[in-house]
Amino acid sequence: MCGIVAYIGKENCRDIILEGLKRLEYRGYDSAGIAILNTNTDDGEPAVEIIKEAGKIRDMEALAVKSKIDGKCGIGHTRWATHGEPTAVNAHPHKDCTGKIALVHNGIIENYEQLREELKSQGHNFLSETDTEVLPHLLEKYYDGDLLAAMQELVKRIKGSGAIAAISSHCPDEIIGARIASPLIAGVSKMGNFLASDMPAVLKHTRKFLIINDYETVRLTEGGVEIFSRDGRPVNRKPFKANWSIESAEKSGYEDFMLKEIFEQPYGVKETMRGRLTDGEPGFEESGLTCDQIKGLSKVQIIACGSSYHAALIGKQVIEKWSKIPVEVDFSSEYRYRDPLVEKDSLSIAISQSGETIDTLAAIREAKSKGARVMAITNVVGSTIARESDSVIYTHAGPEIGVCATKTFTSQIIIMYLMGLYFGRLRGFIDKERYREIISQLNMIPGKIQNILDRAEELKKIAEHTYRKSCFLFLGRKHGLPAALEGALKLKEISYIHAEGYPAGEMKHGPIALTDTGTVVVGIMPLDSVYEKMLSNIQEVRARRAMIFSIVSENDGSIHEYADYTFKVPETPEELYGIITIIPLQLYSYYIAKNLGRNVDQPRNLAKSVTVE
Ligand code: AGP
Ligand code: GLU
Repeated sequence: MCGIVAYIGKENCRDIILEGLKRLEYRGYDSAGIAILNTNTDDGEPAVEIIKEAGKIRDMEALAVKSKIDGKCGIGHTRWATHGEPTAVNAHPHKDCTGKIALVHNGIIENYEQLREELKSQGHNFLSETDTEVLPHLLEKYYDGDLLAAMQELVKRIKGSGAIAAISSHCPDEIIGARIASPLIAGVSKMGNFLASDMPAVLKHTRKFLIINDYETVRLTEGGVEIFSRDGRPVNRKPFKANWSIESAEKSGYEDFMLKEIFEQPYGVKETMRGRLTDGEPGFEESGLTCDQIKGLSKVQIIACGSSYHAALIGKQVIEKWSKIPVEVDFSSEYRYRDPLVEKDSLSIAISQSGETIDTLAAIREAKSKGARVMAITNVVGSTIARESDSVIYTHAGPEIGVCATKTFTSQIIIMYLMGLYFGRLRGFIDKERYREIISQLNMIPGKIQNILDRAEELKKIAEHTYRKSCFLFLGRKHGLPAALEGALKLKEISYIHAEGYPAGEMKHGPIALTDTGTVVVGIMPLDSVYEKMLSNIQEVRARRAMIFSIVSENDGSIHEYADYTFKVPETPEELYGIITIIPLQLYSYYIAKNLGRNVDQPRNLAKSVTVE
């Protein structure tokens, strides 16, 4: 996920594009670049000029201003790397071999390796490690006097996602764009026309926008915007008027980044699965492990902190169940000090959305010093943990701005599910029928998350009735337990209310002494193999006059007798309830915190990346 901006018109474009990129910096921020068509060259021939740099947009801006690059037609990009580290070479725009075509892209080209090989065998030279670089070379290959036609051929060749904008000295009076499953809009104004990933990039210049749909291509000139369907026919689309302020538009109309990120989860989860469920089979070449190594694994050791630790607990259950490999889970901050044993043929997995958490980094260094093979699961390409591990699996959830982990957490869970299935399948411990069933159920997860998000108002009301309570106990068993732990963490970190996540069966060994009329017990109790046990535990706390809020399956028939409030989630195989039940808990915590007037994006005392011990 990144930001792209393009402009063609009467004005000089450098500052328009730089300003637009700054407005999109929230979407990605590890490197940036611009390409501008210079029509004032010494030989009178238009030329594409590119400035790009690793780091913040202001680093690239300084170079652009110094170089005096400018013109009436240009494209810009702020990158959030998915393939290849955030370096100047990997930053966009990327060029073709002739240097006459420059292109920016937001998304992932799943079949880039195959396209790259094909293009290399036809004599194309590549400079970067990105998936994107195949695109300008494809345009070069298909260009035959019409850049739009070349883009339409390109769209037929790529698998994955992309919002694309390209310029060329072959045709200095136009910008060509395309969209496949990544956001792209066109802005229309008297001073010229724009393409952008999101409206805030150009709201300063126009409020008139045109939506570009999947598989459509678009041609921008100074005087107009033309959109073309997948089969190349002109599309007649009316512009709409946006009445957003620049600030609200950055959050796409949501009040906070946290809420926006909660609502992005159906998309985030799809992005995590994308390309990893090819023909229904999970594929994890990124794991760097051979089939024989996986078959011979003696143990998996997962190290993580906070929410990532809770994702690890879900991983433990499914990896053990489906692949019969024993899994141990440690807090990174404990692992490094307990003189851990690293078994031969074991695999250490570090989960960290930021890839920078110092305790996790220190833990992998400790594991490596004892001979462990380390695999990282992270959301940030080129992060320190990614670089120091033997292999990396990226979650591709897009940048998360809110301090509270939401969409990165659900994307980590998806990786845990896929890994459990992959190991289980290779080792032959999950039977074919069950395996197919889980795969098809996984494909339904984005829709089920959406179903919950569509009923956010129900949770808002429950929060309004309960936010004044001072003690919250989140109880769960089996697959409901990591969700209970994560629900309590969400609530305490953004509302500052005391909350505990606890195994429901452990209540009678101590914590039940806490329950009284000031306590809310949140029971995670979908219809699974421990449902009856959960029901008994809920009755026990109800008898001590706690208020009960239960997260249950939609076909639950008994809970209304015991709970003050309930929220129903769609049914799913019990192994997948971990991801389904956390969604209402994220929303519930969010609404409680909002009722208390908290700053949910930047809660007190916390930081997004914890780089101190
Ligand atoms: C989650 O909401 C927290 N902000 C925090 O617990 C976080 O999960 C923890 O700091 C680990 O971060 P990491 O995944 O970036 O390593
Ligand atoms: N996949 C591309 C890259 O890694 C684009 C990433 C983005 O959307 O920023 O460079």
